[in-house]
Amino acid sequence: MSHMRYLLPILVLVFPLSRASGQGHESHLATPSVAPATALATPSVLPNISKLPHTVEVTITAAPARLSLVPGTMSDAFAYNGRVPGPTLEIREGDKVIVHFKNNLPVPTTIHWHGVHIPVAADGSPFYPVAPGGTYDYVFTIKHGTAGTYWYHPHPDHQSGYQIAKGLFGAIIVRAADDPLPATLTEKLLILTDNRFLPGGAIDLPDMHPHDMVSPSSHIDEVNGREGNILFVNGEVNPTLSIRSGEVQRWRVINAAAARVYRLSLSGHTFLHVGDDGGLFEKPIETKEIILANSERVELLVRGTGAPGTRAMLQTLPYDRYVPQTRPKGWNTPQDLLAVQYTKQPPVSPVALSSRLRVIPVLDTAQATATRLISMSQGLFNGKVMDMARVDVSSKLGATEIWEIENLVGMDHPFHLHGFQFQLLDRNGVPVTYRSWKDTVNVPKHETARFIVRYSDYPGKWMYHCHILDHEDMGMMGILEIQ
Ligand code: C2O
Ligand code: CU
Repeated sequence: MSHMRYLLPILVLVFPLSRASGQGHESHLATPSVAPATALATPSVLPNISKLPHTVEVTITAAPARLSLVPGTMSDAFAYNGRVPGPTLEIREGDKVIVHFKNNLPVPTTIHWHGVHIPVAADGSPFYPVAPGGTYDYVFTIKHGTAGTYWYHPHPDHQSGYQIAKGLFGAIIVRAADDPLPATLTEKLLILTDNRFLPGGAIDLPDMHPHDMVSPSSHIDEVNGREGNILFVNGEVNPTLSIRSGEVQRWRVINAAAARVYRLSLSGHTFLHVGDDGGLFEKPIETKEIILANSERVELLVRGTGAPGTRAMLQTLPYDRYVPQTRPKGWNTPQDLLAVQYTKQPPVSPVALSSRLRVIPVLDTAQATATRLISMSQGLFNGKVMDMARVDVSSKLGATEIWEIENLVGMDHPFHLHGFQFQLLDRNGVPVTYRSWKDTVNVPKHETARFIVRYSDYPGKWMYHCHILDHEDMGMMGILEIQ
């Protein structure tokens, strides 16, 4: 494996790209047609074939599929059980989960259960590839205190971005018996993705290895991560979600895009932000906007403060994660994701919401036995590209450690740790004012974030990486070994 190709992105940051700064680099792409309003679809739930209590046993097959991803055209895709997004894995704390996986793709793959705290052999990391035609049983038990919103996606060596862009991703919902939010709230799952298509419907996936000079997009993809010009919610373009005036809805939102960072806003409304990657906060936080980096999840309460018959728009507002030379066309205009349509019914009286959600145990910095310094440059951690044969950080089961992630370059990198949820301590030395469980932290350009983590169980080799999929695939990844 040549290291030269990993150096390319660095050069791009230094020398302005005439091609990128022009307006034309997306001109060969199919443009979104205005789709007729469709009601927001919810992915189906994986049927449980087990008769045993506290056991969820499901079957997932990854296979090529010809699907209409954008209305009016057909695309050659990859799909879990024939669907994009794949069906939702719905489980409860304490459940034993058995996933019978079959790989009917022409390429090796894995399923990674992003953020779920499980043994290393079930993690679907690049160490456990499933060959074409092969099968694998993922078996794990869901710990108490981990209820939340997660997602699953392929994680093979060098091919994650390609396979996810082809359609392989799905949601995981872990429920708790003692969920503090009223069970009567209408729940909505919103899986956010983007994609790009060539005229005729083919998914526009420039070959980056070797660098594909035919498609000008490939160069930009290497730097920015691949962004699509068509934005989807649960696989639909601009769908409509309905709400009744006065109603409170619980939204679980997943950023499953390869590189796009969403800055969510709902016109005329504020959100009650109640949860993060690893589940609910201790108390709700009222906010106008949510920044959701790649692979992050949030739980939001949306209060139906609008009048019957009115409509509001969920948009993603401009978010400048880019080096100036590679900002995509239109990056600074808000984009519509979803219309929220109020029914004509008279308002219902709002349910009472408790201001205490749960207690999150504190990971105490006084217990930390090491601080791990990770510097991120373009495509590299601590100046190195990933090597499957190298261990970058080694530690002991039960240890508590602080990780300090410093971004040395002029674009954001979302840092993801496998295996363990962590608590964010501070950003640029400024303490984070609320406690939450996270598995991914976006580190904006030239900033530093610190988190604390306890390796409570599950020894083995765990990956950590940038969750811009092109960066991950190029080797912006390292290995943590817990002994
Ligand atoms: Cu969602 Cu290692 O990834
Ligand atoms: Cu990155």
